[in-house]
Amino acid sequence: MSSSANAPIGIFDSGIGGLTVVKAVMEKLPNENIVYYGDTARVPYGIKSITTVREYALQITDFLLSQNVKAVLIACNTVSAAANEEVRARCGDIPVLDVVDAGTQAALEIEAKSSSIGVIGTLATINSQTYERAIHAFDEGKRVFSKACPMLVPLAEEGWISNEISRLTVHEYLQDFRDKDLDALILGCTHYPLFKPEIEDYLKESGTKVIDSALSIATKTEAMLAERGILNPDEQTGSFTCYVSDKPQRFQILAERFLGKKLNRIEISPLL
Ligand code: DGL
Repeated sequence: MSSSANAPIGIFDSGIGGLTVVKAVMEKLPNENIVYYGDTARVPYGIKSITTVREYALQITDFLLSQNVKAVLIACNTVSAAANEEVRARCGDIPVLDVVDAGTQAALEIEAKSSSIGVIGTLATINSQTYERAIHAFDEGKRVFSKACPMLVPLAEEGWISNEISRLTVHEYLQDFRDKDLDALILGCTHYPLFKPEIEDYLKESGTKVIDSALSIATKTEAMLAERGILNPDEQTGSFTCYVSDKPQRFQILAERFLGKKLNRIEISPLL
């Protein structure tokens, strides 16, 4: 384990979706080194039990700790919902940030008109009511409207993020939210920021602010590293090392599409 400033930040997700967090961190903190783990052999997590997701999350945490990371970012809402405390306990002094916390804080910072917040996520995240608990821990008066939108994950994995099918799917899922006068809608799944333009467009009449927790966690990461005095002082662009548990070639194609740049060869590192 490491807390040295030029050690990498460890980021993980059930698969490709956490790259929305990687992209935001790269933009905010371009000189940080990053190690990413995507559990492509076992994705999706959003339809699995909490016990199973916890077990997977701890395996990946151990892997990242073995890479001497200086911080861990849980870039998966399902893991944040199922295993946040367990991952923190396993990391000890290594700081851990998660997307649920980051998205919740960003939503609560929006000026309240209706005191209502919407949350969309996987079945596991929505059924766990983690966002409700996180929001009510700060403000019991907020009304929270949640909805699972499971079809958006396979659409994103397929690269269908702005075609007729994705547009209709977004509209079908969000039609209830249109007249709810929400202050904010939290995109509570790593894949959903890919649909943000469509979602914003669909909700534009309602004045609802769409919260991308990838941006929020990147901002929180910068503040946390600065506070601990472990921002990387190196001036060159940081390295990006990527591990997956299966199918690295497919991951590479999708990852280059997500990040909009060429990547070095992706290593396969099964955890089973
Ligand atoms: N990464 C997951 C999340 O943010 C979505 C994909 C999955 O179901 O594994 O909840």
